[in-house]
Amino acid sequence: MKPNLKSANALAYSDSGEGIPVILLHGFCETKEIWNHFLEPLSSRCRVIAIDLPGFGQNAALFKPVTIADLAEQIYQFVLELNLDKVIMIGHSMGGYIALAFAEKFPQRLAGLGLFHSTAYADTMEKKQARDKSIEFIDRYGTDEFVDEFVPPLFFEGRRKELKDDIKLLIDMGKNTPKSSVIETIRAMRDRKDRSKILEKISCPVLFIAGKNDIAVNFALSASQFWLPANAVVHILNNTGHVGMFERPKETLLMLEQFVEQVKIIS
Ligand code: MLT
Repeated sequence: MKPNLKSANALAYSDSGEGIPVILLHGFCETKEIWNHFLEPLSSRCRVIAIDLPGFGQNAALFKPVTIADLAEQIYQFVLELNLDKVIMIGHSMGGYIALAFAEKFPQRLAGLGLFHSTAYADTMEKKQARDKSIEFIDRYGTDEFVDEFVPPLFFEGRRKELKDDIKLLIDMGKNTPKSSVIETIRAMRDRKDRSKILEKISCPVLFIAGKNDIAVNFALSASQFWLPANAVVHILNNTGHVGMFERPKETLLMLEQFVEQVKIIS
């Protein structure tokens, strides 16, 4: 399917289907193309909007140093510009951090929130130190070398050979990301605050998709958030790392479809 490409609030995005709007936010070093194989099936149930975050993909030139909350504010401006009332927002990893910051400031705009390999907890001290090391590494050796090392471990080890084309796709996305966006978003993720209280307060349904073998959003550390929302749907994927949309495309699509249908019934 050829997505319908548009731009609003200066952000390029794809827009297909009709009905309740579902905004898809990609993660770090990714673009909206990570959602490509979900667009057609999902858009028969709802309006699917996939955005390139500022600094990435077609919006690569739009980046200036930001916080996760600033990025959420830009998504809010986008929602206003498109005249959307309530949306379902699904974020992959860093996209989930942004969706949570959106939920903190604009909860009335959410009909559903999806954390796709993401977490409401802040970085541990160890993770913050690893982020600083990544920044040093990128400064020294460049983005290409960083991305070559960063991407393969996002996939469950036992399937890396079989999924080598998907690994290459993500490596290419990362290599096309400007160095400034890569470094500044690492800083923004490092400095983001704990938003677990937001999950406790949120009134809309929350979807969690988690990989048991995720090394970027550690499963054991993030699992205690599953109990926080009043209304949560939790899917735990075995033999899966950080990129279920590639590692388990059929199941994760079904999880999104079922969540959309659930939200439609109750909203
Ligand atoms: C992402 O996939 O967005 C990042 O790896 C998340 C993170 O590093 O916390």
